[in-house]
This record gives sequence, C-alpha cells and structure tokens, in this order.
Amino acid sequence: MEGSGKGLYISDISWDAPSGGSASFRKVKGIFLAEDPVVLETKNGNLYMNLRLSDRTGRLPAKIWDNVDSAYKIISESPYVSISGELRTYRDMPQIVIDSLSPAASGDIRIEDFLPHTPHSISDMWKELKRIIKGMRTGAPRALLDAIFSDDKVRRAFKHAPAAKNVHHAYIGGLLEHTLSVTRLCKEISAHYGSINREILLTGAILHDIGKIEELSFSKPPIDYTDRGRLIGHIALGMNIIERFMALVPIDSGSCDAQLILHMVLSHHGEREMGSPVVPMTEEAMILHFVDNMDSKINYIQQLKRERPVKEGAPQWTAYQRLLERRFFIHDMQQGDTVANNDVINGGDEGLTGSHDHADDALCGNTLWK
Ligand SMILES: [Fe+2]
Ligand SMILES: [Fe+2]
Repeated sequence: MEGSGKGLYISDISWDAPSGGSASFRKVKGIFLAEDPVVLETKNGNLYMNLRLSDRTGRLPAKIWDNVDSAYKIISESPYVSISGELRTYRDMPQIVIDSLSPAASGDIRIEDFLPHTPHSISDMWKELKRIIKGMRTGAPRALLDAIFSDDKVRRAFKHAPAAKNVHHAYIGGLLEHTLSVTRLCKEISAHYGSINREILLTGAILHDIGKIEELSFSKPPIDYTDRGRLIGHIALGMNIIERFMALVPIDSGSCDAQLILHMVLSHHGEREMGSPVVPMTEEAMILHFVDNMDSKINYIQQLKRERPVKEGAPQWTAYQRLLERRFFIHDMQQGDTVANNDVINGGDEGLTGSHDHADDALCGNTLWK
C-alpha cells in the first residue's frame, strides 16, 4: 500500500510473533498519528513514553526510551509524526520501539490516510437501514425515525460517526454498521418471539446509540471524545436528541410509545455499573441489551482476527484481553477440522485465565463499551 510520503501503513507491518515472545526486529519507517502519549518513569528514574501509532489501517503500541521530553513536545504540537524504529514483540504483542521522531511535513499528511473506515459501503448500509424503516408500520415510532433522519445534520453525522474511540466499530461508519447489525438481529428476534412490539424494538435498536454523533469527534483524526461526550455520555445525549425530535412529531413524550423507546435507550448497557441509569425492564429492552452486547463483543473479536490473521491454517491465542478477562482462540477451522497441537488449544502457559500485564494492556480502559 503506497501513500504520498506516508511510507508504511500499519497493515503493511507484518508480524509473525514467535511463541515465547522473542523479538523480531524489523525496521519501521513512516508517518503515523501519535495517540495517547504517556510519560512514565523506570525504576531507575529514567523517563520513557508509551503511545500508540495509528493510521487508517490500524494501531500499534509504541515506546520511546530516549529524548522523551522533546518527543512529547513534538507530539503536543501536532500528532502527525515521522518515525523510524524497530518492530519488536513484547509478551507476544507487537510493539514499535521508536528511535527517531520528528514532525511530519505538512505536504505528506493526507487526512484520509489516518481516519479508519468501515470495511462496508456506507451508502449500501444506509440504503438497507432506510428499507427497514420504510418497512415499519406507520405510527408514532416510524414518524419519530423519519423526523430524526430528515435532519441533514443528524443524518450525515449518523452515517459517518464511529461507534467508539477504541475497540468495537471504532472507525468512520462504525455507528451505522453497528446499528444496522443490531437492527437486523432485533428484526429476526422479533419474528421469533410473538409477544414483542416490533416497531418499538426496531426504533430502540436504530436509536440506541444515536448520542454517539455528539459524544465523539470524527471530522479529523484521531477519533476522540468531545468535551460534551466525556461530560454527558452518549446515553444522556441520545435521550436529549430523541426528545428534541419528539417535540416535532405527533408523539407525546409522556406517551407509552415514547417511554418505551426512551427506556430502551437509557437501559441498553444493561447495568447501572455500565452507565445505564436504569436496567432493562421490558422484553424489548432486554433483547436490545443482549443484542447490543453481543454485537459489540463479536466485532471486538473480529477486529483481533483482522489484526492478527490466521496464517497457513495455524490457530493461535491472542494476548490477554483485559476488558473481557480472557484470551481468544483465533482460528479459521471449518467443520470437521481437528486441532493437532494441544498447547495451542490449552492457551500456552496462561490458558484462559492466565496472568497478564495490566500496565501494558494499552487498549483497555473503562469506557470501552460506549
Ligand atoms: Fe450499541
Ligand atoms: Fe451504547
């Protein structure tokens, strides 16, 4: 993959981690976005920096051991940096050790090189979501959806917003991809359980994360939280957006339909500890919560698989995923295939619940499932 002056893309940096985590020492040179730099101190009192290097094809953790002050100053002024360094493995994870870092020349920076994008077509996904809305019965929930998506600003943002800064659907078009997936699944489930109010379930599915259009900033890299997003969060922001449009359509915000829809938005994280002010208390809200939870986690695993594709049919364990408190077994086995290597299926030394290094688990935090 070539870009004008960009040099390597993250996806070009092939990584064959030898089991046991020995280093592979490949040279890496290119322009990347430096994200989340954190300056830390070794036991000997020397400064070093943890950061992530990213572009539209992915992210890799990185470390700087020398000239940390000057690197921090450069990154603070502009996150686009030209680096050279070596790819190494640390505890079975790839890591770039940077030996030189300088500001990238503005002529070498193309914004589109640094904003990750859904692998699917935004226009196709949008058409499918519109078809689902058009297939709903006319009534208050449908009128609400029509009003919301007739608003140019909301529609444009909804089609392009990511669903998160990290982890699941964390790319342009991610919110639409996640919403469409959740809505498709809810549609199937509503056909399975006869007692479900299909229109309410679909409306809640389509709107449950709409607050993300205000929670995240995504017009230029890096994708990040807005101040409003950090302070208020997408559940409250979503409720606010929906209530604004409820005032424009024949749906009284005190009506049963309105309350059922708002309840789904407010409860979709399932637990108060996960940011929902109320727990799901209707069949539709329970379904949405389970489907939302499943879709975000499956996308997380798919992302791990994309970052570490199975090579020559050899299944492998991911590094410990602190967020989900397990490793994942990445394979492309079809029905009937057998696993030859017991070490692989047992997860090496750590197995499913083995020890791990919290400090170096850079992708993990407590706001990941937003
Ligand atoms: Fe969601
Ligand atoms: Fe959410």
